[in-house]
Amino acid sequence: MEEVKILAIESSCDETAAAVVVNGRDVRSNIISSQIALHTLYGGVVPEIASRKHIEKINQVIDEALKEADMTLDDMDAIAVTYGPGLVGALLVGVAEAKAISYAKNIPLVGVHHIEGHISANYIENKELEPPFLCLVVSGGHTHLVNVKDYGEYEILGRTRDDAAGEAFDKVARAIGLGYPGGPKIEKVSHEGNPHAIEFPRAKVADGEYDFSFSGMKSAALNYLNHCEMKGIEVVQADVAASFQQAVIDVLVQRAERAIDEYGAKKFAIAGGVASNGTLRSAMEKMCESKNVKFYRPSPILCTDNAAMIGAAGYYDYIAGVRSGMDLNAVPNLKLGERA
Ligand code: KG4
Ligand code: ZN
Repeated sequence: MEEVKILAIESSCDETAAAVVVNGRDVRSNIISSQIALHTLYGGVVPEIASRKHIEKINQVIDEALKEADMTLDDMDAIAVTYGPGLVGALLVGVAEAKAISYAKNIPLVGVHHIEGHISANYIENKELEPPFLCLVVSGGHTHLVNVKDYGEYEILGRTRDDAAGEAFDKVARAIGLGYPGGPKIEKVSHEGNPHAIEFPRAKVADGEYDFSFSGMKSAALNYLNHCEMKGIEVVQADVAASFQQAVIDVLVQRAERAIDEYGAKKFAIAGGVASNGTLRSAMEKMCESKNVKFYRPSPILCTDNAAMIGAAGYYDYIAGVRSGMDLNAVPNLKLGERA
């Protein structure tokens, strides 16, 4: 089989990343330069700083990706780049870079949807996985339950009405003094806490049965902290973390289970930064096992933002004939399954 070699670039938020991926599933390099330490100083991602850091790092990250793959730009069959959704100034750095390389070297350009990338991360370590399957995408900006009907063909069954799951983790973490990014910190301290110490409400959304709502749960956590402060009750950080994490996981598992039942799904995958959470992974695995559904999850490093997943998604777009022109632009609110 002829090899399709793709250089993939990702810069939608706070990671500058490049990867070389062959035939969509064979990752030859996956370089990630994280800005987390920098943004931690400000308690969250500062868009202007993110853009500037992407500019500083992008060439170096691409050089490293090519070097590690033992290839040059001349070996590449396509350049895949995230063009949305994300922070506009951050996305623009990757898009401009990809366009420059594509133009200078006359290599086809493929614009990739960031969420399509997260979903496609599942293909990398599961060579046999093919659509159709259901996928729960849980990240800092998105909570989507998606029916992956085919490569590049998505039906959104449910989404968050307000905060994304990762965003809720980040906000509660800040309130209990854990800092940014909250998800991994909540997971770490929750090992010392009791997940049933505080019963946070499991948010229900009346219509749109697969939709999620996390802002109510977040407010319940903030109210609990206020209440403790007013009454002089000692806050056990690990208990709040463990109980909040459990409440979020219960809601995610319950919605996933309902979708599996109603769609008669045989395969279920998770994706996105929050999918690296060990407690969520085991809860989903257990639920899937009990229903005889095959469960897929990317390794943690492929759950959080990376370019290998963009190379995987970009490959399926490329072989389907998708090509972007020199007019490719960053689209901060790009919808899944839509091309702009
Ligand atoms: O997918 P991602 O890297 O970026 C977006 O596209 O948003 O996801 C980042 C989000 C952050 O909100 C972070 O707190 C959360 O994923 N996250 C976690 C864990 N690791 C990252 N949430 C819970 N548990 C984790 N272990
Ligand atoms: Zn992401």
